[in-house]
Amino acid sequence: MTQTAVYTEQQFIADLRDVFATHRDSVQQAHHVAALLRRAFENGWPENSEKFGDDNGTYEIYRDTEYGHPNPGFVVLAYRQGPQEIKRPAPHDHGYCWVAYGVKSGGNTQSRYAYVHTGDDVEMPSFQLVQTMEQGPGDVHYILPGEIHSVQGSPTDETVYCRITSMDLDTVQRHRYDVESGRSAIFSSATTTTP
Ligand SMILES: [Fe+2]
Repeated sequence: MTQTAVYTEQQFIADLRDVFATHRDSVQQAHHVAALLRRAFENGWPENSEKFGDDNGTYEIYRDTEYGHPNPGFVVLAYRQGPQEIKRPAPHDHGYCWVAYGVKSGGNTQSRYAYVHTGDDVEMPSFQLVQTMEQGPGDVHYILPGEIHSVQGSPTDETVYCRITSMDLDTVQRHRYDVESGRSAIFSSATTTTP
């Protein structure tokens, strides 16, 4: 009799911890974590998690006390959300943290922004949309420390997605950006809700 190898949530969490234990560089960490998240999706996660539910909302799956970047405390969050009104979500960064975003079902649109400098040193840099990524089922992307993005949920489908943050972002000061002016303001998601 052959047995099908199942990638359990317990093993997934253990592998996430191992990534932090093995790699100090945030790019390596985020890249390996994204691969693990794709594997978890292929094995029925997060729907098969005891911590995930049928109602729309945010489900905290796991919170570490030992590992993270740059400080301990990476967090695994899973979301179920209904169709979202199309709006212009505020671009933001994650301070010195990185975040991996994966879609299990439905879809998210990820927009990446950057300041673009001309060679003229008296010109202000312009704030520009530099990349748009349509995330469908199984797609995982990551936003590195200092990178700027926004997320728009599918306007038509229920979306189940996951977010692994290298620390609890409630503890991190970061920036939100105005698309038109490129001006930024400091905020913390402990006081303001934002992805
Ligand atoms: Fe974000």
